[in-house]
Amino acid sequence: PVADRVTDLLGRMTLPEKVGQMLQLNAKEGVRHLVEDLHAGSILHASPERVLEAAALTAETRLRIPLLVAEDCIHGHSFWEGATIYPTQLGMAATWDAGLVERIARATAVEVAATGVHWTFSPVLCITRDLRWGRVSETFGEDPHLIGELASAMVRGYQGDGLDDPTAILACAKHFAGYSETQGGRDASEADISRRKLRSWFLPPFERVAAEGCRTFMLGYQSMDGVPITVNEWLLGEVLRGEWGYTGTLVTDWDNVGRMVWEQKIYADYAQASAAAVRAGNDMVMTTAKFFEGAQEAVAEGMLTEAEIDAAVRRILTLKFELGLFENPRHPDPARQAAYIGGSAHAALNLEAARRSLVLLTNDGTLPFAGGLEGGGAEGRAMGPGPRTVAVVGPNADDAQTQLGDWAGSSGQADWLPDGQPRAMIRTVLDGFREKVPADWTVSYAPGARILDVGPDPEGAFFPDGQPRPEVVVPAAPDPVLIAEAVAAAEGADHVVAVVGDRIELIGEGKSTATLELVGDQVALLDALAATGKPLVVVVISSKPLVLPPSALGAAAIVYAANPGMLGGTAVAELLLGLIEPTGRLPLSFARHAGQQPTYYNQVRGQHGTRYADLTQSPAFAFGEGLSYTTVTYTGLELLTGVVEPDGTVRARVTLTNTGSRPALETLQVYVSDTVTSVTWAEKELKQYEQVALEPGESRQVSIELPVSVCTLVDARGHRVVEPGRFELLVGPSSRDEALLRAEFTVKG
Ligand code: IFM
Repeated sequence: PVADRVTDLLGRMTLPEKVGQMLQLNAKEGVRHLVEDLHAGSILHASPERVLEAAALTAETRLRIPLLVAEDCIHGHSFWEGATIYPTQLGMAATWDAGLVERIARATAVEVAATGVHWTFSPVLCITRDLRWGRVSETFGEDPHLIGELASAMVRGYQGDGLDDPTAILACAKHFAGYSETQGGRDASEADISRRKLRSWFLPPFERVAAEGCRTFMLGYQSMDGVPITVNEWLLGEVLRGEWGYTGTLVTDWDNVGRMVWEQKIYADYAQASAAAVRAGNDMVMTTAKFFEGAQEAVAEGMLTEAEIDAAVRRILTLKFELGLFENPRHPDPARQAAYIGGSAHAALNLEAARRSLVLLTNDGTLPFAGGLEGGGAEGRAMGPGPRTVAVVGPNADDAQTQLGDWAGSSGQADWLPDGQPRAMIRTVLDGFREKVPADWTVSYAPGARILDVGPDPEGAFFPDGQPRPEVVVPAAPDPVLIAEAVAAAEGADHVVAVVGDRIELIGEGKSTATLELVGDQVALLDALAATGKPLVVVVISSKPLVLPPSALGAAAIVYAANPGMLGGTAVAELLLGLIEPTGRLPLSFARHAGQQPTYYNQVRGQHGTRYADLTQSPAFAFGEGLSYTTVTYTGLELLTGVVEPDGTVRARVTLTNTGSRPALETLQVYVSDTVTSVTWAEKELKQYEQVALEPGESRQVSIELPVSVCTLVDARGHRVVEPGRFELLVGPSSRDEALLRAEFTVKG
């Protein structure tokens, strides 16, 4: 019946009403004009007041078609004061736990749906390629398999058991496709990418979530081979709609249609741009109000048929009927908001996520402090061996906004909300230590360094829309007094924790960085702390892997925390005190130098001359790496099937042993190397992983079953195939060659 209802409604709509249905407009600019004059089908960035105002106006229109309300809720409800803000996608990826990611998405959907939002622009399936890109924290890292696993889980979580469930929200896979293949890490640059490369690395996660039933896709800003993705008929038509049979809805990114006129200058006017966008397969046009006139003009001038408009409108109306918006418009619901938003169940889930996201990169035995404390002492604090002092220093030790990361009401994009989330719900690292140390311990604090100053733009730069930028952030000037305070705190302490990283102003869309070094006075701070001779623990809270100076690399321990969300500070304190075990693994590699890009592990194998003369090509820390407070050994990798059919399964087993004295949650990683390939290909690719819990002393034999059908490459004709011959199965705790056990198998011709 949905199809019949759509046909019936479509048959009663005028052309302006149909074109308006395809428009998604910014509610921050007011809604009356959008609803009454432009017949908008969707709004984004709408406060609850605006949602209700728009709904009331819609109820007065001829056909009373409900609006789709969209928002960027990518690690919690980004723009809702008091909503649960989880670790960013990058932090979630470090958990390598699809079940946990699905639970986070489900809990997010429950909060988001209660605020009258039907559609979230999440998950991000872009593959991190250049760490200087501003949107690394929005990704699941650098590996297509891991991205596909986690993104599918997120889609399941958002969309729940079916769109008719009032807590289900539409997921949106973005940014289709190749957006992250930047030039120099700069956002939204021309993606210099071949169709074969796209099929090899960038498309597989999207194909995966399309099969998972992800109802919407968002197109990126970038162009490929000179053609903006918005009008790329090959990608949208042949591949997405054709080969994959995708029937979901496509939305452009912000003013993509307009950009083709005023920025990329592909079309002379909005009629041409609108016609091309519709013809290529776009359904919803984000924030290009001129599409309203443009598309109608295109029909009048014969550039576009009404039937082509109908096809897009049909998909949009189908979503609205399937969500049941005509019967239940799913308006903001104060009762459900009070019951669920920021509630204790979600806080517990958030703390679990933050704990699981932390990656221990190095440790000389300094961690956990005092050999590890016991939980549950006085006031819920840990129990320890007698009085101690912890110096918590560094600019990110008590910076709530940076800890939350981008899309957390703090990026200046939500002018209808107070800046950021309520401080009372957030635990910074400083808060975490104050709450968690034993009652007879002391915590001292000194910020030690500033990262950025805000000042007038020295270049008099302008925003892309022509507005002058009144001020910019610049690296903070050195401040010896701040450093001296931190050094004094360290000298008076038994344990020293330096929390460094980047800052919210350096994270996000249009905010790529030219460098990866610690900004401001942070390196001087770390050098000074290292010179005290106290064992130094460095915690990095940053949106992306940064280049760490020798004083950090030589420190007693390093923990990478990404942007760990509201309760990240509690999780960090618990980890350093040994109240929890480190279980996170890197979803992307750390560079040794900004000029070392790219550092991702799955680059095509070394052509002669790809190495730098002045730097090794190996990353500072590799994909998959992460330590535990115990040691786990891998032994006895044994192949049960040495020769397999192309449609067969490789079977193997390996033994994992916890040889230390603390429990482990080990992430066993299975890579495959195709030893000879008809085209250049990655030396190895992650194909599977499994998390194995091991008590101290426990040994476990793990079975591996790998369908040969995943051992593919994309050949010179662009076809994904298994090429018979010799392969290696690589099993171990990270992508580092020296960490992996190897066994050879042959795929029959
Ligand atoms: O969803 C985002 C997208 O990721 C980047 N441009 C703006 C969109 C809507 O806010």
